Amino acid sequence: MIDRNGVLPTSLTRSAYQRWQELNDWLVQHREFWQPAPFMTPEPSWARRYPELADGVAGLSDSDCEHLNETPNELARWVARFAPSLTDYAELVQVPHLSPSMEEVAEVTLAEVRATDMPGRKRLQSGAFAASLAPLEHPALDWCCGKGHLSRTLAPLCPGETQGYEWNQELVRDGNRLARRFGDRVSITLQDVMASDLTLPDNFHGVALHACGDLHRQLLRRGSEAGLPRLSISPCCYHLAGEETYRPLSEKAAGHGGLLQPSRNDLRLAVRETVTAPARVRKQTRKVSQWRLGFDGLQRHLRGCDEYLPVPSHPARLVNEGFPAFCRWAAEQTQMELPGDTDFDAWLEFGAQRQAQVRRHELVRHLFRRPLELWVVLDYTVFLEEQGYRVRLGQFCDRALTPRNLLIDAIRVSVSDNPA
Ligand SMILES: C[S@@+](CC[C@H](N)C(=O)[O-])C[C@H]1O[C@@H](n2cnc3c(N)ncnc32)[C@H](O)[C@@H]1O
Repeated sequence: MIDRNGVLPTSLTRSAYQRWQELNDWLVQHREFWQPAPFMTPEPSWARRYPELADGVAGLSDSDCEHLNETPNELARWVARFAPSLTDYAELVQVPHLSPSMEEVAEVTLAEVRATDMPGRKRLQSGAFAASLAPLEHPALDWCCGKGHLSRTLAPLCPGETQGYEWNQELVRDGNRLARRFGDRVSITLQDVMASDLTLPDNFHGVALHACGDLHRQLLRRGSEAGLPRLSISPCCYHLAGEETYRPLSEKAAGHGGLLQPSRNDLRLAVRETVTAPARVRKQTRKVSQWRLGFDGLQRHLRGCDEYLPVPSHPARLVNEGFPAFCRWAAEQTQMELPGDTDFDAWLEFGAQRQAQVRRHELVRHLFRRPLELWVVLDYTVFLEEQGYRVRLGQFCDRALTPRNLLIDAIRVSVSDNPA
């Protein structure tokens, strides 16, 4: 992270709130790139404003798209050739690595023979998460712990008994059984973490690995209210929230003029990743999305109205009945009549062309996933600083192990020590 002259990049020397402000203003400035969903918007306004970028993406091969989608900094450099205001991208999204050496991570990762029922990635993620927190000085409270994979990884590293909270009875039972079988000092309790009468145990270190949206926000709020000495959270699924519009947790962010107010649907972008479903499922998804885009063109033409019309989820049987049957069903759902001479082949071809275009416009949109994610996580960071914590924000593992690799690690300090 430190350059040859021993200088830290400015992204690491600015305060969390300064970084949040920059991202907020940058995301507002570039709203037209990421807010409209390409599936519903054939001609985004940026394509008119940056015709060379629109031509550039249109000329990319499928394999170029795949490669650029997986290498965000390279994608940003490529897009910035046409839209220079995106030049700062790498600097804006830079965060330090928090995990120690590979050897130290390996040392705390549960051995495969002890990792019963634990998917390989979860084992490695839990190991990297735990290693990034060492040394641990308090017993851990694992929030939404599932079968307690992280709890069992942390148990040998912290004093006392690791507690897990989980609301699924079966996971609680299986998790406690695993802990007993391997002699881990872990106890999982059946608990709804959203319960209003929940009281947190004193002096525990609250940890959460991939607890979704409101669940991790509940730990941020309740954990800091209870004055837990340390909170370490790797968030995910920011959009899973009771409220339609995201409201910042931190007072500073909430009071910022020109505040970005992403909807639940906007926030979904932060966790959009390439789907790694089996090839058969991917093929079927592609087929149906081509049909939907083909029908979208047809309905715009028939209604004489250039507007997206939502079509509900289709019954599974339709997938085997072909495009004309899909169009007849979709027309029925949207109370439209299809003319007898509808040229289904032409509309199917139209769907294929739109699909290629959607993929390329999505590529540009995907550039904004990490900035949007960091915007939310920096708000959490500033919130914790406001509550009297000193916070480290960084990544605990490589993106290849999980793209949800951000970690907020907050240690309670006395108010007078607090940099916020
Ligand atoms: C994405 S999983 C993460 C599990 C675990 N932290 C891990 O990394 O393996 C989220 C877990 O939260 C649990 N959960 C969801 N809502 C909950 C609630 N209100 N109270 C407690 N647990 C909840 C789910 O049952 C699930 O096990």
